[in-house]
Amino acid sequence: TEQVPIPGPKGVPFLGNVYDIEPELPLQSFERMADSYGPIYRLTTFGRARVFVSSHELVDEVCDEERFSKMVSAGLAEIRNGIHDGLFTAHYPGEENWAIAHRILVPAFGPLMIRGMFDEMYDIATQLVMKWARIGPAAPIQVTDDFTRLTLDTIALCAMGTRFNSFYHDEMHPFVEAMVGLLSVSGHRALKPALLNNLPTSENNKYWSDIEYLRNLSQELVDSRKENPVDKKDLLNALILGRDPQTGRGMTDDSIVDNMITFLIAGHETTSGMLSFLFYHLLKNPSAYRKAQDEVDRVIGKRKITVDDMSKLPYITAVMRETLRLNPTAPMIALHPHPTKNKEDPVTLGGGKYALNGDETIALILTKMHRDPKVYGPDADEFKPERMLDENFEKLPKNAWKPFGNGMRGCIGRPFAWQEALLVVAILLQNFNFQMDNPSYDLRLKQTLTIKPKDFHMKATLRDGLD
Ligand code: HEM
Repeated sequence: TEQVPIPGPKGVPFLGNVYDIEPELPLQSFERMADSYGPIYRLTTFGRARVFVSSHELVDEVCDEERFSKMVSAGLAEIRNGIHDGLFTAHYPGEENWAIAHRILVPAFGPLMIRGMFDEMYDIATQLVMKWARIGPAAPIQVTDDFTRLTLDTIALCAMGTRFNSFYHDEMHPFVEAMVGLLSVSGHRALKPALLNNLPTSENNKYWSDIEYLRNLSQELVDSRKENPVDKKDLLNALILGRDPQTGRGMTDDSIVDNMITFLIAGHETTSGMLSFLFYHLLKNPSAYRKAQDEVDRVIGKRKITVDDMSKLPYITAVMRETLRLNPTAPMIALHPHPTKNKEDPVTLGGGKYALNGDETIALILTKMHRDPKVYGPDADEFKPERMLDENFEKLPKNAWKPFGNGMRGCIGRPFAWQEALLVVAILLQNFNFQMDNPSYDLRLKQTLTIKPKDFHMKATLRDGLD
């Protein structure tokens, strides 16, 4: 194959392409540049180059774990200051704690364990139902805020054994305040040169004090569970009691704290964003809305939802998959050439056509890849859950639907998120009829570490009263 240079916009000295990236919504800039420069392009900021890929073909190539592995860069590298080599921010290969935590925690997210967490998920889901029932049909619901309360309270209960009681307060729990602080400052820091991040500015000072607060509270919760053990199948017990089958070792307290905060960070915005986008799409697509609600009425009716119902909702499952196709809430993931396995020099993409510059970061733009017309056809931009029913979903080409990331470094919390979201969609459709607050609302995005709908409000009318 003849090599061609990787295209991309010309930058300015030192800053490079900083001005090509809209700081409020970098994702949109990356998508637009894919429209102008094609499925592969390169950007340089402060001397750091990154290659962006967005076609299924190129993504499929980069998902080969024999050649490429996860890269912890940009915002993720900043979050790493707080949670070190926890699962999400580890630089595996090479970090032993990742492998130990992975072997201990994969079983903790297995089907039986997740079933065991259903009652606690149900408890929090009913708090959301109560809140929306009480505020009544005229009040606009702050959709993403309430879904974030739900996902935070659920993961805090299951992973830390504590109740944030977010539905009973207007202000966020201090843990959430600190976590949101860590995430948002990490985002800012990633856009600045390292020099500025080391200055004792008030932002930087708050960043480090937020980290200290998060770690101290987490450690207290670990200590308290150790002092008062309970016989429960939850994530906190798995963190404390789990033993690595390979080395026989348990996790150190530092690693437990790293991963506890990791679950909170990785497990709340992604799931809450998915639920928000899902209701947006249902409200924009009345026939899909009707089919989803009919499914709940047919399969469950008015009785209490049980864990066994979770496998009997194929249409809602398809709606969830289709939502994450159009709006993967973790919209980009980063990889780089595998540090030990990839022996190519230079490392190439596109079957030898494009050469990387050494150990370059490759960012996958999942939002674009999920709309590749070669895979999803000319109607790739449309919301059509039918294409995600099992029989179609199973026929998708490999690596064409990647909202949960790739391979070994893919999402460990997927079954947790899936059960939680299925339950919430079912219980909401069972109890309410929904309307858009502003019927002419069209999707706008807000981006932090993840994406969510901006200014999306709906109204909820009780169907037949609560049982
Ligand atoms: C990793 C997406 C829910 C815990 C990931 C990755 C993605 C992802 C894309 C890979 C990140 C990368 O390559 O840098 C999602 C989505 C979710 C969700 C879309 C919801 C709809 C959750 C939940 C938890 C969780 C509920 C915890 C309870 C994690 C962890 C990792 C991870 C620990 C790192 C795994 C490792 O590298 O070993 N997730 N996630 N996620 N997720 Fe999730």
